[in-house]
Amino acid sequence: MSIKIGIIGAGGMASYHATGFREAGAEILGLADVNPVAAQKAAERYGIARAFGDVAEMLRTLPELDAVSIIVPNKFHAPLAIAALKAGKHVFCEKPPAINAREAALMKLAAEKAKRTLMFNFNNRARPESYAMMEYIKDGSVGTINSCQARWIRRTGIPGFGGWFTNKALSGGGPLIDLLHMIDLGLHFMGYPEPAHVLARTHRDFITDKTFKGPWGIPDVAKGVTDVESAAHGFVTFKTGQSLAFQVSWAEMNKREEVSVTFQGSKAGGLVQRLFGLDGIDDTAIDACELYTHERGRPVNRSITVPPDAPMGRVRSAMNFVRTLEGKEKPLNTPDQAVSLMKIIDGAYKSAATGRPVAL
Ligand SMILES: NC(=O)c1ccc[n+]([C@@H]2O[C@H](COP(=O)([O-])OP(=O)(O)OC[C@H]3O[C@@H](n4cnc5c(N)ncnc54)[C@H](O)[C@@H]3O)[C@@H](O)[C@H]2O)c1
Repeated sequence: MSIKIGIIGAGGMASYHATGFREAGAEILGLADVNPVAAQKAAERYGIARAFGDVAEMLRTLPELDAVSIIVPNKFHAPLAIAALKAGKHVFCEKPPAINAREAALMKLAAEKAKRTLMFNFNNRARPESYAMMEYIKDGSVGTINSCQARWIRRTGIPGFGGWFTNKALSGGGPLIDLLHMIDLGLHFMGYPEPAHVLARTHRDFITDKTFKGPWGIPDVAKGVTDVESAAHGFVTFKTGQSLAFQVSWAEMNKREEVSVTFQGSKAGGLVQRLFGLDGIDDTAIDACELYTHERGRPVNRSITVPPDAPMGRVRSAMNFVRTLEGKEKPLNTPDQAVSLMKIIDGAYKSAATGRPVAL
């Protein structure tokens, strides 16, 4: 019997979720969005039989659903996930897990109470580069990772002005929470150690300058709110002695959009990196997956070749959700990790607001 899924949210990511679920053999029975026209259009585009303008109606009408995927603005992740878990559904939720750690913890609790699976779309863990690097980390070739640098830096990448992305009440924040992927990937490589302290600064340069808008995102809302940061820089220490530095931005005058994790292990250093195409989405992107060792008294660079994956793991991570439900794969992430990640994000915002290091 195939897993039956309902999708919540008609935005662009629905296409990757639908492809991944189907590639893993699941059926998609319905798609719900508060905007019934958007729901109908997306259902037609992705070949989904039923469209709903109300999530509760989808859950009532399709009791046979095993799971839902949640692809809506961040503020609605927790309430929708908790409602679906209470209705006995497994949940695959877009990143960030929620707008803060408190809500992420409530989601985790709801999953435990309902005895259902709760996973998040940290799709960068599902990239071929990340799978390959994890093999070297797990087999001991890297040794203990002492330090990590996580970056997602954009030059002109503000996702619209006045829409939900730039409205802190709806999004939880700007690039620090939106582009948390590389912080998550660094933590994944380090074994998700328990954080001790975070020290961070956020900046608002260019956040209202329309010439810093990215080629993606959502339409501007003329009277909408733009009250989030345009960049964040910080440093996290862990109880294990490890550390992680991060730089995330929608608008900074860097040479090129870069998505990367660099680390220093006791046996090897490493890098997983994508330098985006020059307009952000073209095919001049450069991917790297490299290990740096010291052999016979000399530096040695090893380049790991993996198949290209333009969707950056977004299809593969949806497949992992279905295969986890079927017991065929281990989940790529856990609710505990989501709560820990959100504690770091909350701590970084608090540190930026107070100007002081925050104990986690
Ligand atoms: N993993 C990734 O690479 C990635 C990329 C882009 C976006 N995202 C995440 O996906 C989520 C959605 O982003 P998007 O770019 O698709 O946004 P979007 O604004 O394009 O689409 C969101 C959709 O959700 C609907 N919606 C809003 N509130 C709802 C509710 N309460 N119930 C049902 N539907 C509701 C809207 O009508 C809209 O159609 C966000 O959490 C974002 O962070 C992840």
